[in-house]
Amino acid sequence: MGRSLRARVTNNVYMIGGFAAIAGIMFGFDIGSNSGVIGTTQYREYFDNPSDLLQGGINGALSAGCFVGALFAGFPADRYSRKFTLIAASILFVIGSVFQAAANGVPLLCVGRVLNGLSVGVTSMVVPLYQSEIAPKEIRGRIVAVQQWSITWGIMISFWIQYGAQFTDSTAAFRIPWGVQAVPAIVLLSGMWAFPHSPRWLADKGRMDEAIQVLAEIHGEGDVHHPRVQMEIQEIEAVIKFDKEQASHRYADIFKPQYTYRAFLGIVLQIWQQLTGMNIIMFYVVLLFEQAGVGDSQESTLVSSGINYVVNVVMTVPAILWVDKWGRRNTMIFGALAMSMFLWVVGGLMSQGEWYIAENGKWMMNIEDKNKSKGMVACVYLFVASFACTWGPLGWIYPAEIFPLRIRAIAVSLSTSANWLFNWILNFVVPMLMQRIRFGLYMLFAGFNFLMAVHVFIAYPETKGYTVSSQHAMWTLEEMDIVFEQNPRKKVDRAFVEAELARRTGLDHKEGSIEKTENIV
Ligand code: BGC
Repeated sequence: MGRSLRARVTNNVYMIGGFAAIAGIMFGFDIGSNSGVIGTTQYREYFDNPSDLLQGGINGALSAGCFVGALFAGFPADRYSRKFTLIAASILFVIGSVFQAAANGVPLLCVGRVLNGLSVGVTSMVVPLYQSEIAPKEIRGRIVAVQQWSITWGIMISFWIQYGAQFTDSTAAFRIPWGVQAVPAIVLLSGMWAFPHSPRWLADKGRMDEAIQVLAEIHGEGDVHHPRVQMEIQEIEAVIKFDKEQASHRYADIFKPQYTYRAFLGIVLQIWQQLTGMNIIMFYVVLLFEQAGVGDSQESTLVSSGINYVVNVVMTVPAILWVDKWGRRNTMIFGALAMSMFLWVVGGLMSQGEWYIAENGKWMMNIEDKNKSKGMVACVYLFVASFACTWGPLGWIYPAEIFPLRIRAIAVSLSTSANWLFNWILNFVVPMLMQRIRFGLYMLFAGFNFLMAVHVFIAYPETKGYTVSSQHAMWTLEEMDIVFEQNPRKKVDRAFVEAELARRTGLDHKEGSIEKTENIV
């Protein structure tokens, strides 16, 4: 009634979450921006056949920037707002892309990659934060998973642009893909102004009237008296009052015993996400397939490699639809075991190849039996599929949902930077290990996957919440404290949590939570 189309679009939760997720495309463009280029002769000739170490450095310049960006993003996000931090990060990304596209040698290329990295580090931390503060808590997992989906789209689009560009017989083979990266950043930069600030950030800054207005627009069709809006405002005010009473310094709170362990779980989860080995494939599948003699030309190796990126996009969809139903623990344990198995088979099949040192001094292999070679490629695709619907989204969802609001920014910052640190380490060591331990690389990562399944089984509580009227509901922050105090292997029962909360607070929370849940979407 009376709300303009523009207001409806810019205040729709899916539109806001989806638009901010354009930053995920930038993330993906970055991850994918080298994998298809490094195999081309144009790139190798122009940059003087970079050695493995130098190539690791060029790739790693990006994740090093990401690490620093993610680590420090909490400060501008809290001080200048989530929204303006995202806009600033897109400007940085445009500059970085221009530097890369114009690179006249390795140094400028690396400067561009560091700038893009800083930007992606910031956005990879701020987007889930902004999304989770805008989204009703019941669909928070799904909205954050949309960011993962954008990442996979970014990786795929960038790879196929590289595939097309290789047919230009000039430096355009890498300048086009690197320049095109700026496009999503320009879109984000131009459109983000129209979207609202995070209401939680506004409230935190004491801009209560604006916070209510935003909440009314996004959750109450413009009506400040809407029951959901009133309820949220009361909750936000209560949290802020609680913070003031505790006189808590928000960042130092992370060292309180009940949060330190949780921060540890979040950080280790993101490290495990990298140790799944997904980025061996995302960054170096072209080298892997070349080494294993898959395809008989540059083009066919690239096509076989590119299918991985398509599988990654398609197989993220089931997670968006059902991750809230499957539960966090089961999904992670199942995903890790499946990945472990597929990597083990890849390593096993490669161990049966005939290894020799090629003219360029590198270890290469031949598999006489083409069925074995096909089996290996199939297992790589199955491995990617297993990651896409499990650890891909959960690496971002789980750490974003286990912390109270006041330390969420810093905790997510720490876990995100741990992800980038390991991403950076892998960039360096993978090409080297591909040469040194060859098929052993896949067996090593199969081992990591097995260990992470065991670790999740032993230590990670189920945080999926509970279901009311077929709608998934998250635990509230107070409830999450109780969930983490329980034995992680035991699914925490809703009735137990409510009874425990009632015992601690003297209030009956039952009515409230059912009502809260059924109002949604
Ligand atoms: C990971 C990236 C990875 C991508 C693949 C993300 O969740 O953090 O390192 O390249 O998924 O889809």
